[in-house]
Amino acid sequence: MKKVTIKDLELTGKRLFIRVDFNVPLDGGQVSDDTRIQASLPTIRYAIEKGAKVILASHLGRPKGKVNAKYSLKPVADRLAELLGKTVEFANDCIGAEVEAQAAKLGDGEVLLLENLRFHEEEEKNDESFSRQLAALCDLYVNDAFGTAHRAHASTVGMTHFVARSGAGFLMEKELEYLGKAVYSPEAPFVVILGGAKVSDKIEVIENLLKSANVLLIGGAMAYTFLKAQGLPIGKSLVEDDKLELAKELINKAKERGVSLLLPVDHVVAKNLETAEGLRECSVANTAEDEAGFDIGQTTIKNYVDEITRAKTIVWNGPMGIFEKESYAQGTKAIALAVADSKGITVIGGGDSVAAINQAGVADKVSHVSTGGGASLEFLSGIELPGVKALAE
Ligand code: 3PG
Repeated sequence: MKKVTIKDLELTGKRLFIRVDFNVPLDGGQVSDDTRIQASLPTIRYAIEKGAKVILASHLGRPKGKVNAKYSLKPVADRLAELLGKTVEFANDCIGAEVEAQAAKLGDGEVLLLENLRFHEEEEKNDESFSRQLAALCDLYVNDAFGTAHRAHASTVGMTHFVARSGAGFLMEKELEYLGKAVYSPEAPFVVILGGAKVSDKIEVIENLLKSANVLLIGGAMAYTFLKAQGLPIGKSLVEDDKLELAKELINKAKERGVSLLLPVDHVVAKNLETAEGLRECSVANTAEDEAGFDIGQTTIKNYVDEITRAKTIVWNGPMGIFEKESYAQGTKAIALAVADSKGITVIGGGDSVAAINQAGVADKVSHVSTGGGASLEFLSGIELPGVKALAE
């Protein structure tokens, strides 16, 4: 379904409220990773060029409805001003008479960033009166906060009912286009790579992608629940014993649907994660009782890279091992490089896999790196995100 986008809106001279996801990491009062700010620059720049009076709003962290200087968006305003090369006004709140006066005073092409929406508990409660107050600041509404689209909050859902027109920003549009194409009309072979610690975090994603994927490659600690379910020795590796039955069901479902579900056949094990005592590579079948697996092995890497090389569409979510530690980083790095080399459409969904592709230095070689963690997982699960649903079609 096609959403109205910022391009469909007449922006000149209008007060345009853009919900962005500037939930970025801060360190010593400064933005330490501005990826999410950069990702919304095309939308913000377009609005400025068209002569809109630009009002930006975001949450930062989880201040639980209370003002907390630690979560102020002021450092974000400073970083945004540097990136735009122009003044960004900052409002000390996101609603109220003072903010309304600041919004009313904005000239065409000027930018105002509001203080953290979550300093008010009404934001997360999707409170109607709070939504109305936010809507009162503007003439038009654009949502570019894909990373927050899985939250039904006042600034992502509530206020859309009280604005004249709403639409998607360029980042939102791009996220929906790439993730949507991968999930709903992938070119075959469609290879899904899933990793991370827990199967329980990815059950819905697996269930949903079994409908369209041709190959499912599983790595990370979540693989051990599948391996144990098949009766293989996994030593002290992390496992979710209450998900063994579910893992069996998923393996059977994959078989029924003709999806090849690949699991590690070898891995990097150690007796101690921190000290890497007894570090060695062995086949899964040869895992000793006092060993735990922390990365995939060379044969598994080869098997997975072969599938990735053949793929026309790839979705990757979750690392293959504890890649933050050099001893257990080879699998995730090899997958990152193979995905980057792919000639197909490559989509990386949020969080750790984004960190991994950045660490491998090849983020610019994939088709799309999602800015959403939870949001991209929910999207891959087939859930209609409330913040997307709320936008006009
Ligand atoms: C994120 O970082 O995933 C989004 O900004 C949403 O944040 P939240 O999980 O605190 O709602």
